[in-house]
Amino acid sequence: MLLEMRDIRKTFPGVVALNKVNLRVKAGEIHAIVGENGAGKSTLMKVLSGVYPHGSYSGGIHFDGQERQFDGIRDSEHLGVIIIHQELALVPLLSISENLFLGNETSRYGVIDWMAAHSKTVALLQKVGLKESPDTPVGQLGVGKQQLVEIAKALSRQVRLLILDEPTASLNENDSAALLDLLLELKGQGITCILISHKLNEISRVADSITVLRDGSTVETLDCRASAVSEDRVIQAMVGREMADRYPKRQPSIGDTVFEVRDWRAYHPQRRDSEFIKGINLTVRRGEIVGIAGLMGAGRTELAMSIFGRSWGHRISGQVLLHGKSIDVSTVEKAVRHGLAYVTEDRKGNGLVLSEDIQFNVSLAQLGGVSRATVIDSGREHHVAQSYRDKLRIRCSGVDQKTVNLSGGNQQKVVLSKWLFTNPEVLILDEPTRGIDVGAKFEIYTLIAQMAAEGKCVIVISSEMPELLGISDRIYVMNEGRFIAEMPTAEASQEKIMRAIVKAS
Ligand SMILES: Nc1ncnc2c1ncn2[C@@H]1O[C@H](COP(=O)(O)OP(=O)(O)OP(=O)(O)O)[C@@H](O)[C@H]1O
Ligand SMILES: [Mg+2]
Repeated sequence: MLLEMRDIRKTFPGVVALNKVNLRVKAGEIHAIVGENGAGKSTLMKVLSGVYPHGSYSGGIHFDGQERQFDGIRDSEHLGVIIIHQELALVPLLSISENLFLGNETSRYGVIDWMAAHSKTVALLQKVGLKESPDTPVGQLGVGKQQLVEIAKALSRQVRLLILDEPTASLNENDSAALLDLLLELKGQGITCILISHKLNEISRVADSITVLRDGSTVETLDCRASAVSEDRVIQAMVGREMADRYPKRQPSIGDTVFEVRDWRAYHPQRRDSEFIKGINLTVRRGEIVGIAGLMGAGRTELAMSIFGRSWGHRISGQVLLHGKSIDVSTVEKAVRHGLAYVTEDRKGNGLVLSEDIQFNVSLAQLGGVSRATVIDSGREHHVAQSYRDKLRIRCSGVDQKTVNLSGGNQQKVVLSKWLFTNPEVLILDEPTRGIDVGAKFEIYTLIAQMAAEGKCVIVISSEMPELLGISDRIYVMNEGRFIAEMPTAEASQEKIMRAIVKAS
């Protein structure tokens, strides 16, 4: 046994985040931790790595045969326990090699030896399969590659236990597969790994054991080596009941075209001479859920943001029509006034005011709904937030909790509540279930279906193809700024979508 955490209990004001959690990780295994949003996964890993120091929790940590009391992250790193957090921590403006040796500089006589750093970087990048030059600024890499740089950084520190908190949440399928392959390779070299993920198919691919957390306690640990553990089995342990369906059943009732985008074009704000969105035509009918499929970088987010109040892009042209009439959506305010809503994929950057509480965030886009004669009625604001908390099952101590302290998945639910409260006619959802657990996903799909049943237009952008196939009525496939295919979902399949993309690129 490399690691044993016994009876861990950790509380925050008003919240018991962990209550008697036990975790046993064998040397050389890939150990998955799963659980619903807010179950305590990230908190447990922060206890393990010393982010929450000894004394701020109760229970014991045994690593490598000895009881350990970490006062900070340096102590755990010293023993080779390296955590890669849910939110990446690289410095975008610094180069790969600067990031790798930040806080860990190879110094000679107190001066960083950049020559040595450079050659070490080359060797490390090779290990994780990156071909970039060590001088490349990290900000120029996609998320998938940044994730690999984080792992290279861990390898530079003689890692023994590598902890990855939802590493594939923002990765496309290829990058995710590459990352999982790398984990298997590291396992071959004797590196133990703890993997947190909501993607159960990935877990069944690589995990040797799975520990399930629910409401801050360990439910059980499943051994996948003896015999394969089915996803349904894991889900049942996570949510404490059986889940028959992953998607709600619906009987779509689709009417006339309500929302229309014609010949939409936008240029890249940095590379100003290159057209990025290249003449998109899109229609959504009353009560219809339209999916937009595509690989990362296809331009789906840019399309949505450029339509929604020109939040992205430059030299934007084209027409947006609602009920056959051209509307002005040139600012976010105007777009909202015309009944558009856009739920961002970037909840930390654009979706939430983290320093504020849940009720503040929920009412933010629709202050009129909680005001009386332009004064915010805080009782009403509280009531509204409370109702979304119940509907979406937001896990929190109360709607006056600061959103910065919510678990990742619960933050996503707050962003969603905010836009549902604007009661939009056209709802654009960008990766609406990123980082969301299976049970809550079902609830979000149900809400989406409800919006459609009320006659709204829904557009869903998602990298998870099963999700698009599961909830939409019609699918556009986007590649390099263009729609390259369109099909009713009834005639679509993952393979058909992929084939369209391959053919176009
Ligand atoms: N700093 C904090 N202050 C107050 N409450 C907190 C803090 N950090 C976490 N919590 C609460 O502890 C609980 C566990 O959160 P945690 O982030 O560990 O969940 P998680 O299992 O990682 O969820 P997710 O899958 O959504 O990432 C949640 O109810 C969360 O609101
Ligand atoms: Mg988490």
